Amino acid sequence: MSVERILDARLRDRVVSAEHAAALIQPGETVAMSGFTGSGYPKAVPMALARQIEQAHQQGQPFQIKLLTGASTAPELDGALAKADGIAMRMPFQSDPDARKRINDGMLDYIDIHLSHVAQHVWFGLYGQIDTAVIEVSAIREDGALVPSTSVGNNKTWLDLARKVIIEVNDWQPAGVDGMHDIYYGTALPPQRRPIPLVQGNDRIGETALRCDPDKIVAVVRTHGPDRNSPFTPIDATSEQIAGHLIAFLQHEVARGRLPANLLPLQSGVGNIPNAVLAGLAKSGLRGLSAFTEVIQDGMLELLKSGVLDYASCTGFALSPDANEEFKRNIDFYRRRIIMRTQEISNHPELVRRLGCIGMNGMIETDLYGNVNSTHVMGSRIMNGIGGSGDFARNGFLSTFLSPSTAKNGTISSIVPMVSHVDHTEHDVSIIVTEQGLADLRGLPPRARARAVIDHCAHPDFRDLLDDYFQRACRDSYGKHTPHLLPEALSWHQRWLDTGSMKP
Ligand code: COA
Repeated sequence: MSVERILDARLRDRVVSAEHAAALIQPGETVAMSGFTGSGYPKAVPMALARQIEQAHQQGQPFQIKLLTGASTAPELDGALAKADGIAMRMPFQSDPDARKRINDGMLDYIDIHLSHVAQHVWFGLYGQIDTAVIEVSAIREDGALVPSTSVGNNKTWLDLARKVIIEVNDWQPAGVDGMHDIYYGTALPPQRRPIPLVQGNDRIGETALRCDPDKIVAVVRTHGPDRNSPFTPIDATSEQIAGHLIAFLQHEVARGRLPANLLPLQSGVGNIPNAVLAGLAKSGLRGLSAFTEVIQDGMLELLKSGVLDYASCTGFALSPDANEEFKRNIDFYRRRIIMRTQEISNHPELVRRLGCIGMNGMIETDLYGNVNSTHVMGSRIMNGIGGSGDFARNGFLSTFLSPSTAKNGTISSIVPMVSHVDHTEHDVSIIVTEQGLADLRGLPPRARARAVIDHCAHPDFRDLLDDYFQRACRDSYGKHTPHLLPEALSWHQRWLDTGSMKP
C-alpha cells in the first residue's frame, strides 16, 4: 500500500491532473523547472504542456515559453517541449538532441552560463519575472515544507521568485531521501553577502526541506516515474588509459607532498571517462577520499559503498537503473554519506576555492597553450554547454581536462593549434590528459606548455603536424611569446569542414 506523501491537508486539496496544472501556464511565460542532469525533473506537467502547445500550434496560435532549469533534464521535459517547438529561450544547460538541433538551426535561443551564476542572475532580474515554477518533490510535510527529490538545482530560487508554483509529488522517488538535503538560506547579493559558513565538504549549514509560501502553490500533481536513468556503458580502453594517467599523477602529487594522502574533494563531470577515473580510484589504494561535486554517478556510489569515499556533496544524480535500485535499497546508508545542496552552493566559487577541489572535466578540444573548448564543435555548433566546469576550473586547486586525443573516427585531433571557441582560458587549466599521456602545465611559460601538450597528449597521427605548426610559428610569428600563424591557426577546422578530416 502506498503511503501518503502529501501531509499538508491544504495542499492535498489542490491536487489536480497534469493537464489541469499545465493549462495554468500561458504563452510567453518564463517557466522555471526543477531538474539537474536527468534527475529530479518534473515528469508529467511538461509533457502535458507540450501537448497543449502542439494543439495551440495546430489552431494557428503561437505558444512558446522561456525555460529555465538547474541543468539538463530528459526527453519528457526538454525533448517534449523542443519537439513541440514550445521553447523560445533556454538556459542554463541542456543536452537533449532535439533541443540541440533547434539551437544549432538558430530556432531556439540558448544562454549558456556558469551554473553557479544562475541564481544570482535571476535574483538580479536579468531574465525578467519568473511566472511559474514547476518543481518535483518527494514529499510535502505537514507544515507545507517541500522535501526535494533527487536533485536540488535552482529549486530554492525558483520557489522564492516565481509568481505561481506547480508541485509534482513523485512517489517513485525514495521517501528515504528526506534528510539528505541541505538547503542554505543565507545567500545574499553584494554588499549584503556574508561568508558561507561551510569549511568541510560535509558540513551541514541549512535546512532539510524547501520553503514555499503555500498561497503561491496553484496546483499539486501526483506522479510515479523514474529519473532519466541512463544505462551504464562499460568503460572503454581509452577512458581507462586516461584514468590511469590521471590517477598516477595524483599519486605522484601525494608523494611530492603537494596533495594530502586522501587527496582533496573531487569534482567529476559525467560520462565514460569520469566513471573510469572513479573505477580507477577504487583500485588505487587511496582511502578517505571525499567529493564536493555536482553530480553523483554510479562510480561514486561504489566508492561510498567500498569505503574509499567518506562522503559526497552534490546537487543531483545521474545513475543507471541498477545503481538507482542500489541507491533506493540502501538509502539509509547513503543518507549518512551524501549531502544534496542547491547548485549555488555545490558550485560556489568561494567554496570550491576554500575546499581546494580537484576539478575533472571533459573537453571538446584544447590548443597548444591550454585554452580549452568544452562546448562548440568547429567553433559554432554547440554540444551541451559549459555547465559547472568553469566554476571548478577557475576556482579549484587543480583543474584537469580529460579527452581522447582524437574524435570522429580519428578524423579530428582534440589538440589543435588554436581552439575554435574558448570556455576555459590557459590561465584556468592546469592539467591536460588524453590516452597518450598527461601534460602538467603548471609553472610553464607558453612555449613550454605547447611542447608538453604536443609531446604528451597529441595522437601520433597529428603530432608531427602540430610540431611543424609550432616550429614555424616560433620562427615566423609576429610575437614569440605565444607563437601563432594566424592564417593557419584555424585551418585544421576549416579542412575538416571541407574534406571530413583535419589531416592534409
Ligand atoms: N570535435 C568534434 N566533436 C567532438 C570532439 C571534437 N574535438 N570531441 C568530442 N566530440 C563529440 C563526440 O564525437 C561526441 O559526438 P556524438 O555524440 O555525435 O558522438 C560528443 O562530442 C561527446 O563526446 P564523447 O567523446 O562521447 O565525450 P563526453 O560524453 O565525455 O563529452 C563533452 C565530452 C566535452 C561534450 C562533455 O564533457 C561536456 O559537455 N562538457 C561540458 C560540460 C561539463 O564539463 N560538465 C561537467 C560539469 S557539469
